[in-house]
Amino acid sequence: MRSHYCGHLTREHIDQTLTVAGWVHRRRDHGGVIFVDLRDREGLLQVVFDPDVPELFAQAERLRSEYVISVTGRVRARPEGTENPNLPTGEVEFYGTELVIHNRAETPPFMLDDEDVAEETRLKYRYVDLRRPLMQQRLRLRHRVTSTLRRYLDDQGFIDLETPILTKPTPEGARDYIVPSRTHPGRFFALPQSPQIFKQLFMISGFDRYYQIARCFRDEDLRADRQPEFTQLDVETSFLDEDAIMRLMEGMIRSTFASVLGVELPEPFPRMSYAEAMQRYGSDKPDLRIPLELTEVSDLVAGCDFKVFAGPAADPAGRVAALRLPGGGEMTRKEIDECTAFVARYGAKGLAYIKVNDVAAGRDGLQSPIVKFLSDEAVAGIVERTGASDGDLIFFGADRARIVNDALGALRVRLGHERGLVGEGWAPLWVVDFPMFEWDDKRNNWIFLHHPFTAPQVDTAAELERSPGEIQSRAYDMVLNGTELGGGSVRIHQQDIQAAVFRLLGISDEQAREKFGFLLDALKSGAPPHGGIAFGLDRLVMLMCGAESIRDVIAFPKTQTASCPLTSAPSEVSADQLREAGIRVRRQEAAAKE
Ligand code: AMO
Ligand code: AMP
Repeated sequence: MRSHYCGHLTREHIDQTLTVAGWVHRRRDHGGVIFVDLRDREGLLQVVFDPDVPELFAQAERLRSEYVISVTGRVRARPEGTENPNLPTGEVEFYGTELVIHNRAETPPFMLDDEDVAEETRLKYRYVDLRRPLMQQRLRLRHRVTSTLRRYLDDQGFIDLETPILTKPTPEGARDYIVPSRTHPGRFFALPQSPQIFKQLFMISGFDRYYQIARCFRDEDLRADRQPEFTQLDVETSFLDEDAIMRLMEGMIRSTFASVLGVELPEPFPRMSYAEAMQRYGSDKPDLRIPLELTEVSDLVAGCDFKVFAGPAADPAGRVAALRLPGGGEMTRKEIDECTAFVARYGAKGLAYIKVNDVAAGRDGLQSPIVKFLSDEAVAGIVERTGASDGDLIFFGADRARIVNDALGALRVRLGHERGLVGEGWAPLWVVDFPMFEWDDKRNNWIFLHHPFTAPQVDTAAELERSPGEIQSRAYDMVLNGTELGGGSVRIHQQDIQAAVFRLLGISDEQAREKFGFLLDALKSGAPPHGGIAFGLDRLVMLMCGAESIRDVIAFPKTQTASCPLTSAPSEVSADQLREAGIRVRRQEAAAKE
């Protein structure tokens, strides 16, 4: 039906008689000549229909946007002065001599060139939205990424293996999507939050190197970089320590960037401890392209007259930190108030600041609602340690360390973007030495930072139980430009340490058996030392395309409220289906009353 793609035709094809096919992108009538921009996946081609052949011309007059046609004709150079340098086919045009209309199309819900279409509409008519050249490019880049990843892993001896979708709950910390069982009424499968346990079983089975491009399901609050259904590049290896795994995996990311984008990432990627990342950036996924840093000032303000600072400075779980914004002195009251409202979202009760007008003038050169509460030494110490110079602004956070980190960490990113401070290029980073556990006041228990199969940096259960809060784990996260791209760890391969971790997490032996008995048994069957990682494939592609949201690199994503405007899923099911599944649905009003 076709001899060439529209987007491939260049001067080389001049005078050849060919057949092209695709969609009518646009039709323009120009002084008795009809121009059709014909679109296929490779690009646009200008097709010309001349009134010389009245029948053909009449047919061409009937063409409308998104009609599917094929045209036989001759390639010719565009008349001088009408070339379009923005189009790869812009030097030529296609003189149509035969036209077949394969299908008509209703008026499209939006024009493909329109950039302001509501996302809901784009998702409802996703098959039209995906025709847009930008979406075609993104999904094709996604394909190039997955094929490069596969090639790298194949070369490194990895085996692509599949794991079940109907399974038991996997503990990645989100809510499960559950599926009722018809054959076992009252029982449910859970969709996997990740293939975590199965990939460990593959190591126990001796496959040594596994990978899978795996679909994962998590019922959690959605954001620009989170979907309920997303894709991981999931990897597990045996007999490698964290250093070897990290080197192998950064090699993979480097080779992907080189082959898909022609970008050379640094070798090796820098590494930073979790503690340092929190200290300097207030985040475990710092965007190193932003040249702003947090400065510790707790010791400088300890015992000062300003209770807002003195309290957290004296509290081991508290923190007082400063964030210097070069040139921020010109910020208006209103802008500072906006920043204060912004950090309040992270639980900050205020946002003290000092405007540095004239460092040489000491205290008199500073403008601030709080300087009066601080000693000369404290003020001098703050100016010195933050490296402040004339015209700068210093923000302060004082609270529990977590709140200060969240608030100033987010403010750092916001100011970096708002004030155009984000550097060019790519800033990959490994974050390592995570704490094994964090204390959760609400649950009055330890909670895990990664997942409960992550190995501690100690070798025995006794050491682990002695001071769980101080033990670090053998986990590592790969961060790129402030996004957590992947996370993994060396796993626990001894059953007694696994049991101790469950105990510390408040999971009773009985619950552990019920939930993960099969893993505990498998660990007793001869489990090799093993470890791995999973990358968020959607996030990787999003960053590589420069897209704002992972929804833009997923063909058929869900909305922010986890529904699909295209199919209207989730939808109701018939009474018969419910009966078979042994489920009775409570009416929403009744449920709300309870
Ligand atoms: P983790 O939970 O850190 O680790 O997930 C790994 C990576 O998956 C991506 N990701 C998501 N992407 C889109 N939408 C989501 N809802 C979402 N949740 C996570 C992130 C993240 O870094 N089994 C472990 C991995 C391991 O230990 O090997 C796991 O799933 O990019
Ligand atoms: P106040 O004494 O509450 O009026 O606060 C004086 C200044 O300290 C104001 O600029 C507040 O925004 C700021 N402030 C109050 N609480 C905090 C806090 N927890 N961390 C940082 N600054 C704060």
